[in-house]
Amino acid sequence: MQSLIFATNNRNKVNEIRSVLNGLFEVISLEEAGIDIDIPEPHDTLEANAREKSATIHSITGKNCFSEDTGLEVPALNNEPGVKSARYAGDGHDFKKNTEKLLANMLLVTDRRARFRTVISLILDGREYQFEGICNGIITNEEKGDQGFGYDPVFIPEGSSKTFAEMEMAEKNLFSHRKKATAKLIEFLKTHHGQDQN
Ligand code: IMP
Repeated sequence: MQSLIFATNNRNKVNEIRSVLNGLFEVISLEEAGIDIDIPEPHDTLEANAREKSATIHSITGKNCFSEDTGLEVPALNNEPGVKSARYAGDGHDFKKNTEKLLANMLLVTDRRARFRTVISLILDGREYQFEGICNGIITNEEKGDQGFGYDPVFIPEGSSKTFAEMEMAEKNLFSHRKKATAKLIEFLKTHHGQDQN
């Protein structure tokens, strides 16, 4: 089976992407690849950060790999937290504090629309390709559910009445931005590079 290194230290993301790529491609986490680095996300777009992450891992390993960068975009907050989603409330990558800050900033906001946007950057045989996935929804007034991660407790995807944090992973995957971007990645790999080994 073709294998790809997934350039992330986030176990939730590894589990989610594995559940989608299961049986089609072997996903090797950074930990499994023996790489212990905190990959920088210095840019102001998801596209540039995703590229930075996959390029960093490719330069270390020389192997086919991919990364993803995701942001929660809220039009009423000028599309914040956006690319700053992981560090919205400070440098600690603290999901709880980030979510609390979001709810506080939206206390008086009636336009609750939001979207998750994922950009996957694949480096295959030294060339980069990008795939986007979007999930539209709304921000709740309070946290609900204890599954998932990040802003899941306050995000209800279009077509559901539950937050992502009230869903099992399979149900989240029916709606998820990451699933949509990954589906495009799979389609690309199947169509263009079914024979590649690495
Ligand atoms: P990054 O792609 O690792 O920079 O992730 C940015 C931040 O967005 C994460 O720290 C989470 O707070 C949030 N995030 C990314 N994906 C999801 C998701 O599927 N559900 C909820 N929050 C997410």
